[in-house]
Amino acid sequence: MAFKIVLFVPLLVAAMALPLADAQLGNLLPPLLGLFRIQGTVFCTANGTVSVGGIAATPVFPNATVQLQCGAGNGVSTVTANASGVFSILLDPLHFLLSSLLTGCRLVVTTPLATCNTCLPPSGVLISALQFFGTTLVGALSVINVTPVGFTLQV
Ligand SMILES: *[C@@H]1O[C@H](CO)[C@@H](O)[C@H](O)[C@H]1NC(C)=O
Ligand SMILES: *[C@@H]1O[C@H](CO)[C@@H](O)[C@H](O)[C@H]1NC(C)=O
Ligand SMILES: *[C@@H]1O[C@H](CO)[C@@H](O)[C@H](O)[C@H]1NC(C)=O
Repeated sequence: MAFKIVLFVPLLVAAMALPLADAQLGNLLPPLLGLFRIQGTVFCTANGTVSVGGIAATPVFPNATVQLQCGAGNGVSTVTANASGVFSILLDPLHFLLSSLLTGCRLVVTTPLATCNTCLPPSGVLISALQFFGTTLVGALSVINVTPVGFTLQV
């Protein structure tokens, strides 16, 4: 009897971990050993994305304040982009599902564009939805990469 219980528990844990693993992680590791990394670059253009000239020709937005908002404008996490305009938000998958992150959350750049270029609008915010961008193994840790779909200016 005791043997049956011991056998049953790992099976149950495996079964609970499977739906996310199967659907999004290609069977890598259960979410317990994972981490969401939302990373991207904010550019200093009217729409915050790369200009037609490509990344090298596009000025970045240093020190931009980037907020992850989920639901009705709730700020979940706020970070500051570095001097290269790169921001990174780490989330614990125990509290987030990839599907709800992608459908229910967005990135909002709360620093006005005029801060990086006085010719750009002083009002409005850059907003982007999120997309899944594959997983990366860092040691035993499965990093679930999420990137902005592309920012647009909303006034
Ligand atoms: C964003 O703006 C840049 C520069 O103004 C332009 O080249 C690019 O096509 C725009 N991208 C989108 C998605 O509107
Ligand atoms: C960005 O922030 C750093 C540290 O606060 C500061 O030294 C730097 O001058 C800022 N850069 C710009 C372009 O505002
Ligand atoms: C900004 O962060 C990115 C990603 O971590 C890094 O590659 C880049 O060197 C950083 N830039 C500066 C100026 O710190």
